[in-house]
Amino acid sequence: MTAEIREAAAVLRAGGLVAFPTETVYGLGADATNARAVRRVYAVKGRPPDHPIIVHLASADDLDTYAVDVSAAARALAHACWPGPLTLVVRLREGTIASEVTGGRATVALRVPAHPVALALLEELGRGVAAPSANRFGRVSPTTAAHVRADLGDDVDLVLDGGPAAIGVESTIVDCSRLHPAILRLGGVDAATLDALVGEPVEQLTRGEVAAPGTLERHYSPAARVIVVEAGDVADRATSFLARGERVGLLAIMPPAGLPADLEILRAPGDADEYARVLYARLREADEHELDVVLAVAPPPDGIGAAVIDRLARSAAGGRLP
Ligand code: TXA
Ligand code: MG
Repeated sequence: MTAEIREAAAVLRAGGLVAFPTETVYGLGADATNARAVRRVYAVKGRPPDHPIIVHLASADDLDTYAVDVSAAARALAHACWPGPLTLVVRLREGTIASEVTGGRATVALRVPAHPVALALLEELGRGVAAPSANRFGRVSPTTAAHVRADLGDDVDLVLDGGPAAIGVESTIVDCSRLHPAILRLGGVDAATLDALVGEPVEQLTRGEVAAPGTLERHYSPAARVIVVEAGDVADRATSFLARGERVGLLAIMPPAGLPADLEILRAPGDADEYARVLYARLREADEHELDVVLAVAPPPDGIGAAVIDRLARSAAGGRLP
């Protein structure tokens, strides 16, 4: 791997794009100081320029290189959670990265990923790597190198393969640039853990619950329509979609008994952690199997379950109303 890491760092230094594994999802990386390379990331993703990008760092010691006025809460969170699935939005130390990374904002999102390949790359490069998830904008995030290649093809110069992502959903984002920290996105670190580390309840500016389809921004969407259902309703809902000639799949921890024979059961996760790990792969499989509808039964809402529920709701928001 070392030769490959050296090559990947050289590609980044030359202004190229490198996809790399993290414990959450794969990232599409560019040297954060290279404006042209960062612009290419937006172009490849098809991402609007007002969606800023996370800067990945090799160590929590780099926090003050890129940030100013770091709050005690931000320091506590970085100390406890890095390397790990937590992104902190802090005040940017001006001039340390290309302004395209933050869309000209006064804040920057920073994270130290807990993956040996990512850390080796970041150490070898010796500066921050701006990296969104390595998928086209609005689509399902990649949790394997094969997903990245399928999505981005030749638009990425090098793909580092670090195996399937251990967590499977994106990092939790906490805005620490405000007086009181607030959760912008639920992910690999749950709300109860943040409350304990900050020493007070951390406000959630995100929805942790399943909302009505259409009320959330389209995101994390496969081509199939995702519909979040209660376990007790699966049989009835499946029957009515099947009666209309639609191809229907089910994603659930414990698929209930007595389901219609034509319902395709996507390989079931055993618990919420596994649900997070396999969610995006299963949504991709739904598309490969050309399903019209995925009925999803949410996991329990604690731990990573809340992040899975959030992603299911966003996937569902992308589809048409049932
Ligand atoms: O797990 C992850 O976070 C993955 C891996 C690759 O690190 N990355 C990821 O990046 O999910 P992306 O680009 O798909 O999502 C980054 C989110 C976006 O919603 C963006 O709006 C937010 O971070 N963000 C970035 N900079 C920000 C800032 N300065 N203020 C507020 N939000 C910011
Ligand atoms: Mg993304």
